[in-house]
Amino acid sequence: VRQLLPEPLDEADPVPLYASDTRPCNGPRPWVLIDMIASIDGATAVEGRSARLGGPADRAVFHAIRAVADVILVAAGTARAEHYRAPRLDDRLVTMRRNRGQADQPRLAIVSRQLDLHEGVPALHDPTARPLVITTANSPADRRSALSERADILTHGTNGVDVTAALEALRRTYGAEIVVAEGGPIFNAVLAAADAIDEVCLTLAPTLVGGSSARVIHGGHPIASPFDLVRVLEEDGYLFLRYSRRPHA
Ligand SMILES: NC(=O)c1ccc[n+]([C@@H]2O[C@H](COP(=O)([O-])OP(=O)(O)OC[C@H]3O[C@@H](n4cnc5c(N)ncnc54)[C@H](OP(=O)(O)O)[C@@H]3O)[C@@H](O)[C@H]2O)c1
Repeated sequence: VRQLLPEPLDEADPVPLYASDTRPCNGPRPWVLIDMIASIDGATAVEGRSARLGGPADRAVFHAIRAVADVILVAAGTARAEHYRAPRLDDRLVTMRRNRGQADQPRLAIVSRQLDLHEGVPALHDPTARPLVITTANSPADRRSALSERADILTHGTNGVDVTAALEALRRTYGAEIVVAEGGPIFNAVLAAADAIDEVCLTLAPTLVGGSSARVIHGGHPIASPFDLVRVLEEDGYLFLRYSRRPHA
């Protein structure tokens, strides 16, 4: 990829670039990065999935961003729509993570109220990795009990997951200092409402979609939270934008 900002570079490797960014914990909770792809007109899905927005450069940046995560946080709608699997980073990224003192692979954490996760989420049927499921106290007890055989269950909040408490628990109990949140738009609104987004990595795909796809954040009360644009990469017309939350004055 080439870098356009902060200074032009003809050849840039996304892996060391994303790895060398500073991401300090925010008080008792980890740093939270949301990573999303959108079309020129702001769509986040085509026919219910994001795959048709992506391309090879996007895959490379996606993995470079995943490689910095201690925990990959995803909401149930996305885990189901995208048939989420346990994260599998390649040997180069694993070596980099070992050198940084991180686990070989990030831990997957799925956020759900209903816990209707049995079908369509291969990560919950993978004997090599045990995901986390973050849910509420009044989620269905029978599903919680069934899932506890395949996942560690964290309970925070009653009607909806208390994301601040959940994030703090990810740090306290699982040592997570960097959380990469991969959506979807409904859950991003929950993170935004909790003022829990420190960084946005947005891929702008050179595609028009139309229709009624959700934007990166869908629903919730409108907020206007200022971010600084700190890096721009480009390949094949894709823009890889890295925004960091502007420090409070
Ligand atoms: N372009 C991109 O980068 C990108 C990234 C991700 C997803 N997507 C697309 O976005 C779509 C899915 O996103 P979505 O916005 O519809 O759904 P979503 O945010 O992925 O998931 C919504 C679900 O998350 C759970 N949830 C959300 N807030 C919660 C809370 N406070 N407490 C407990 N559970 C909570 C609920 O799960 P339960 O129903 O299980 O209770 C809810 O139904 C798909 O089309 C996907 O392809 C695109």
